[in-house]
Amino acid sequence: MQFTLIFTTLVHIGVGLATLVDFDSSAELGKQFLSQEFEYAHTHSKIIVGGGTTGLALARRLSADFPNKQVLVLEAGRSGADDPLVTVPQRSFSFIGTDIDWLYTTVPQVHASNQSINLSSGKVLGGGSAVNGLVWGRPAKEDWDDFERLGSSGWNWENLYGSARKSETLNVPAAPFAQEYGYSVEPASHGHSGPVDTSFPPFVPLQHLKFIDASLELGHPLNLDPYAGNNTGAWFTLSSQTPRNTRETSEFAYFDPVLHSENLLVCMHAFVTKLDISSAPNGQIKSTGVEVRFPDGSIVSAKVKSHGEVIMSAGAIRTPQLLELSGIGNKDILQALNIPVKLDLPGVGENFEDHTLTIMTYKLKPGFLSFDALSYNATLKQEQQELYDRKRLGWLTFAQAVLNFAPAQTVLSQEELEMAEALLQTKPDSISQDAFDLIKQKITDGIPQAEYLLFNAFSGGPVKENMTSYVSLAITHLHPLSRGSIHINTTSIDDHPKIDPNVLESEWDTWFLAKATAYGRRFFETESFKEIFDSEEVFPGLDTQTDEQWQQFIKDTVNLGYHTVGTASLLPRDKNGVVDPNLKVYGTANIRVADNSISPLLVSAHTQTTAYAIAERAADIIKST
Ligand SMILES: Cc1cc2nc3c(=O)[nH]c(=O)nc-3n(C[C@H](O)[C@H](O)[C@H](O)COP(=O)(O)OP(=O)(O)OC[C@H]3O[C@@H](n4cnc5c(N)ncnc54)[C@H](O)[C@@H]3O)c2cc1C
Ligand SMILES: *[C@@H]1O[C@H](CO)[C@@H](O)[C@H](O)[C@H]1NC(C)=O
Ligand SMILES: *[C@@H]1O[C@H](CO)[C@@H](O)[C@H](O)[C@H]1NC(C)=O
Ligand SMILES: *[C@@H]1O[C@H](CO)[C@@H](O)[C@H](O)[C@H]1NC(C)=O
Ligand SMILES: *[C@@H]1O[C@H](CO)[C@@H](O)[C@H](O)[C@H]1NC(C)=O
Ligand SMILES: *[C@@H]1O[C@H](CO)[C@@H](O)[C@H](O)[C@H]1NC(C)=O
Ligand SMILES: *[C@@H]1O[C@H](CO)[C@@H](O)[C@H](O)[C@H]1NC(C)=O
Repeated sequence: MQFTLIFTTLVHIGVGLATLVDFDSSAELGKQFLSQEFEYAHTHSKIIVGGGTTGLALARRLSADFPNKQVLVLEAGRSGADDPLVTVPQRSFSFIGTDIDWLYTTVPQVHASNQSINLSSGKVLGGGSAVNGLVWGRPAKEDWDDFERLGSSGWNWENLYGSARKSETLNVPAAPFAQEYGYSVEPASHGHSGPVDTSFPPFVPLQHLKFIDASLELGHPLNLDPYAGNNTGAWFTLSSQTPRNTRETSEFAYFDPVLHSENLLVCMHAFVTKLDISSAPNGQIKSTGVEVRFPDGSIVSAKVKSHGEVIMSAGAIRTPQLLELSGIGNKDILQALNIPVKLDLPGVGENFEDHTLTIMTYKLKPGFLSFDALSYNATLKQEQQELYDRKRLGWLTFAQAVLNFAPAQTVLSQEELEMAEALLQTKPDSISQDAFDLIKQKITDGIPQAEYLLFNAFSGGPVKENMTSYVSLAITHLHPLSRGSIHINTTSIDDHPKIDPNVLESEWDTWFLAKATAYGRRFFETESFKEIFDSEEVFPGLDTQTDEQWQQFIKDTVNLGYHTVGTASLLPRDKNGVVDPNLKVYGTANIRVADNSISPLLVSAHTQTTAYAIAERAADIIKST
C-alpha cells in the first residue's frame, strides 16, 4: 500500500509520529521527504487545504469513513500543543500579533472614517478554534433554516443541529459551581459523544454575574435553554473547554485521538500556494493536486488520485484567495492580473460578511478586580498561575461566561421601531434581495439583532489608569446588511488579499449599531451594576449623547467580530453561489469547499459551532456522494 511506503520512509528518516509531520523541524527532512519519495508515494485520495476548525474535523471523519483512502491535510501553521497562548482559556486573545496570527488588515473603510480594521485569524493547527474566545453558542433556528431558504436543499436547522451535536460532548457543571454561579444547562439540547468537550469554567468574575442581574433588571429574559433554536435573552455560555479547564481545539479534540491512524497524514508548515487545474469531461475542470511550499522555499505538488478530490478548508479569507490564484473566480479580476481563467465564477470572494461591533469601557470601583489586575498585581498573577498549574482552578480557567442576545424590539423604543421600518424600506446595493428579505423577516420575528458581551478587561479609551481594573462591553450587530468582498490584487500568495468588508455602507447598519451601542449604557445605570462600577463612563464617555455623536463614535471605532463568512457561498450559481448543496465548486469535478466561507448568511451566534457543524455535515455528504 502506498501509505506503507510513506510510513516506512518517514520512520526511516526519523519522524516519530507517522501521521503528524512538521516540515519546519528540519529542512533536510522536508527535502528528503519531498524530493526523493514524494512524487511516487505521495498521491492522496482526499487533500484538505487548511488544518483549521473545519479542516481537521473533516479529516478525522473522512479517514474513518474511507479506511482504504489516504487523507492529507496541509496546514500553514504549527501545532498548538503545550502552548499556553492556545491552551489557557484566560489568554484567549493574547495570540494577536504573535506567530500564530495571520493578522490581516482591511482596506480603509469609506463609511467608517476611513479606518483600516485589523482582522486577526489563527495560523495554527485548529485555526480559529485554537485562538478564539471559546464561546460555544448556537444560532437561532431561523438562521440555519435560511441557508435552505436561500436555495440549498438540506441545509436547514434540523440537519445542521444534528451535525452540530455530533461534534460535542457536554460536561455538566459540578454541583458546587452550578450552585455558586447559577449555571443551568439542558442536556437534551447538547451532544454527548462528540470530540469537542464543552463545559462551564469553575470561576466567574463577580461583574459577569452582575451582568445577568442587570439584564433581568432591564427586562431581558433569562434563557435556560439557549442551545435548541431560541437564543434570545441573557444566558450562561458553555466554553469549548475540557473538564480539566484547558481549551478544546479541533487539533486536540478531533486529531490527537486519531494521531496514529494509518490513512491520515497532517503536515504543518505546509503552505499551499495554488491548486493544479486541468480540464475534465463535460466542460468542467478538475484539480490534479496542490502546490505546497515548505519553509525552505521549495515547492512540490501533492497529487490527488484520479478519483480523489481537493477540499478547501483554508477559511473565509484564504479559500477565495487560493481559488482566484488558481484561476477560479471572476474573469475580469483574474485577467487584470494575467492569471489564466480556468473557470469564470464571479461569486468567489463576494458576499463577504462579518459581525460589526463596538466596545464601551467602564471602570470598576476600588477593590473590585478584572483581569487588568493580573498585569499590575504580581502577587495576584503568581497566585492565580499556581492555582491553575496545580489544580486547574481560578481566574485562568475563564474566558467568557455570560451573553445577552436582544431582538430589535428590546433595544429600540416604539418610536425608534417606526424609524427602523422606514430605514428598512431601502435595500442597500451590496446585498441580494433574497438575503435582505430574510433579514427583514428576522427583525420582524424578534430574532436577536444585538449581542452584549462583557470582556473582563480594558479594551479601549483615552486613559488607562495605573492600578485600576476595567471591563468592556462589546456590542455586536448580528445581522448587518452591508456586504463586502475579498479579492486578490497581486499574483503572490504572500500578499494578503484585499479585504473590503464595506462596513456601515447601509444606513440601517450605522443607525442600528449606534442605537444598540447607546443602549449598552443602560446596563451600567442599573442598580445591579451601580454597586461595582464607577459612575464615570470611560469610553466613549458621557459627552456622547446625541444620535449624531453615537454614529460618529461607531464610525470611528467599529470593529469586526472575527466571524467572517460568505466568500464562497452555498447559493445557486446564478445567485453568485460558489458551491452547490454537496459543497462542490460549480463547474468542477472534484473541488469542494468546507469551511465558514460557505455560510451564505451570518448567524446570530459566534461561528465555531457552525464550522464544526459544516465539517460533520460535509463528511456525511462526501460519504454518500
Ligand atoms: C480572535 C477570534 C475570536 C473568535 N471568538 C470566537 C468565539 O468565542 N466563539 C466562536 O464560536 N467563534 C469565535 N471565532 C470564530 C471562529 O473561531 C471561526 O469562525 C472558525 O474557527 C472558522 O473556522 P474555519 O474552519 O472556517 O477556518 P479556520 O479555523 O480559520 O481554518 C483555516 C485554516 O487554514 C489554514 N490556512 C490558510 N491558508 C492556508 C494555506 N494557503 N495553506 C495551508 N493552510 C492554510 C489556516 O492557518 C487555518 O488553520 C473567533 C475567531 C477569532 C479569529
Ligand atoms: C493590494 O491591496 C493591499 C491592501 O489594500 C494594498 O496594501 C496593496 O498596495 C495593493 N497592491 C496592489 C498591487 O494594488
Ligand atoms: C476618506 O478618504 C477619501 C479618499 O481619500 C476622502 O475623499 C474622504 O474625505 C475621507 N473621509 C473621511 C471621513 O476622512
Ligand atoms: C493593528 O495591527 C498593527 C500591527 O500590524 C498594530 O500596530 C496596530 O496597533 C493594530 N491596530 C489596532 C487598532 O489594534
Ligand atoms: C424565545 O424565548 C423568549 C423567552 O425566553 C421569548 O420571549 C421569545 O419570543 C422566543 N423567541 C422566538 C423567536 O420564539
Ligand atoms: C494583589 O493581590 C493580592 C493577592 O490576591 C491581594 O491580597 C492584594 O490585595 C492585591 N493588591 C492590590 C493592590 O490589588
Ligand atoms: C503609572 O505608572 C507608570 C510606570 O510605572 C508611571 O510612569 C506613571 O507616572 C504612572 N501614572 C500615574 C497616573 O500614576
